[in-house]
Amino acid sequence: MRPQPYLEPMRIRGRIATPQPLGLPIINLGFNELPYPPTPGVAEALARAEAHVQSYGNPHCNGLREALGARFGIDPDAIICGNGSEELLDVIARTFARPGDEILISQYGYVQFALTANRVGASLVKAPEAAMTTDIDALLAAVSDHTRLLFLANPNNPTGTMIPASELRRLAAALPDHIVLVLDIAYGEFAGSDYCADVHAIVADHENVVVTRTFSKAYGLAGARVGWAHGPDWLIPVLYAARGMGTVNALAQAAAIAALGEAGTVDRRVAEIVSERARVARALDELGLTTLPSRANFLMATIRDGDAALTEALVQHLFDSGGIIVNRTREAGLETYFRFSLGLSVHNDLLLECIRKFLEMQEN
Ligand SMILES: Cc1ncc(COP(=O)(O)O)c(C=O)c1O
Repeated sequence: MRPQPYLEPMRIRGRIATPQPLGLPIINLGFNELPYPPTPGVAEALARAEAHVQSYGNPHCNGLREALGARFGIDPDAIICGNGSEELLDVIARTFARPGDEILISQYGYVQFALTANRVGASLVKAPEAAMTTDIDALLAAVSDHTRLLFLANPNNPTGTMIPASELRRLAAALPDHIVLVLDIAYGEFAGSDYCADVHAIVADHENVVVTRTFSKAYGLAGARVGWAHGPDWLIPVLYAARGMGTVNALAQAAAIAALGEAGTVDRRVAEIVSERARVARALDELGLTTLPSRANFLMATIRDGDAALTEALVQHLFDSGGIIVNRTREAGLETYFRFSLGLSVHNDLLLECIRKFLEMQEN
């Protein structure tokens, strides 16, 4: 008999590996990444760090935490960095949830929340949403004696919708103190720096609230894998106990510190994406698609009166005719939707053109 794993095997999706039939360059809009290359400052920092790659990076990311603290007005000791914020979500789940415990999320919450629950053997409980947007009262109503952790992404992925910081504050105030509330603002920059500051301010008033952020989205460092969490003083050392020692590598730390020093470029790029978000949503509306009101760097859309098969055909058409990869949202209730990141305007134009042609083909 083979050894028995505690986890089900994970199926790896194959769309990216499929050869593009026309030999076109691939434009991957499926991962909510930023389309820009590294800034000169980041590229230089990476080259400098590369020259010392025989040495370990700082295990506690001291330089990066200090830079984060200075940039956002947070005590560096209230920060822990991770190999992407994905690692920190996992670390938080490992710290607080075990079989028999419940992890509460919103109906269309970020898929990693479900994966972390699965990894630790906790039960996942989903609270219904209203208009594909988080409903605080529904979350509070779903709290039980077994709830240990509430994960909430705001703006959310895949929907892109968000609720105001005042609603998060209301949730933090009403949630029992023994439940950890994780506010994942991976896309916070696209909703505004004031919004981010308001969310961090909630941590100061609660012993059970953690904010997670990432360099993968607004900072364009998805491949470097750097995320961070801001939590109450007592919590951060506990999270270190669950996190691997050298998970944020030396190159990633150097790149993140350099990116923090280029706030002007980051802000300009975020503004460009936000402006493209509005332009593409308007164009899709004119083409007869519905988009959810996104505050992130991506849009989730559906063809009006379309079904899952039509969406599947559109997703395939985008790849076959334009080399464009979008995310086919397969979560229950989202089968007729697809999600794509806002790319460079030339890529967004190509996406719109491919959609227009697809709709024309449907009519004929
Ligand atoms: C809502 C949300 N949180 C966290 C992450 C994880 O990002 P990373 O691990 O790259 O920091 C993502 C990535 O797509 C996300 O959509």
